[in-house]
Amino acid sequence: MRSSKDFFRPLAVGAPQPVTEIPARPSRAIHFFDPSNEKMAAKIPQMVGTVDVLLGNLEDAVKADNKEAARAGLVRIAKDTDFGPTQLWTRINALDSPWVLDDLTTLVTEIGDKLDVIMVPKVQGAEDIHYIDRILAQLEARAGLDRPILVHAILETARGVANVEEICGASPRMQGLSLGPADLAADRRMKTTRVGGGHPGYLVRQDPDAETPDAPRATFQQDLWHYTIARMVDACAMHGIYPYYGPFGDIADVTACEDQFRNAFLLGCVGTWSLHPKQIEIANRVFAPSVEDIRHAREVVAAMGDGTGAVMLNGKMEDDASLKQCLVMVELAEQLSR
Ligand code: GLV
Ligand code: MG
Repeated sequence: MRSSKDFFRPLAVGAPQPVTEIPARPSRAIHFFDPSNEKMAAKIPQMVGTVDVLLGNLEDAVKADNKEAARAGLVRIAKDTDFGPTQLWTRINALDSPWVLDDLTTLVTEIGDKLDVIMVPKVQGAEDIHYIDRILAQLEARAGLDRPILVHAILETARGVANVEEICGASPRMQGLSLGPADLAADRRMKTTRVGGGHPGYLVRQDPDAETPDAPRATFQQDLWHYTIARMVDACAMHGIYPYYGPFGDIADVTACEDQFRNAFLLGCVGTWSLHPKQIEIANRVFAPSVEDIRHAREVVAAMGDGTGAVMLNGKMEDDASLKQCLVMVELAEQLSR
């Protein structure tokens, strides 16, 4: 049977082809921790196996005075911990910061064999990925590593969004992209001070003729991030890499967090960031197809036989295209159950 890869990976002659087959490992929640925070760091070994990705953060949210301590802490944790099925990622400092060169040199040299993915913040264009790609190649060769470290870019500047397609295709190391709504809001001069999520002022109102004496015109809040997530998803699909939502800063508002994560999942994202253990549980639940979705998808796959033509199921038309939609669900369910 055809797989969804047939349409995620462009087959047309001359179309961009990913050189490396990116391993499809679950990464529903990328849980951020500050390796310079001893209390947080001490909990990391117990989190192995409870989350798909643990990410040692070196960039924003780590105080300038703690940058060296965070880097050293990450090296220590990586050396002392068996990560089992959990991936280890890091977010390095920005390319125009005084810390990034030491981040890369130290991490690849000391723990390159343990690091799955390096997340690069504030990526502006392909040139930033080329720079990282070159340095990683040199450091990996020197360290004698036998598997390439993958690269994940944060989409958090207006220029980065404008260049999103070239960023995705800039290197076979590209694993995926995350939305960085806080930096992006600032860079675009948006008027929200929240870290991700919606805003009560961003809404549409029903027409005046919908109003009755008993029912004022209803308002509907819109998703501030819809446009950017949709662009990011398209660019990632075109290049066969993975799109992620990013941070949701209002830790207490688990309902709005779940809504934002679900919107991203429905639009095509494979995962999100977690800033607090309670967001891991939300992400693991949201970034997986529901039992009902899987049941329906399997029913369509079975009914479609050789995958061509059209069938009627429960009063609805299914065909080659809806089969592809269902294969996305079935494959994700299988990948997550391994
Ligand atoms: C994340 O880095 C953000 O800026 O939202
Ligand atoms: Mg940021």
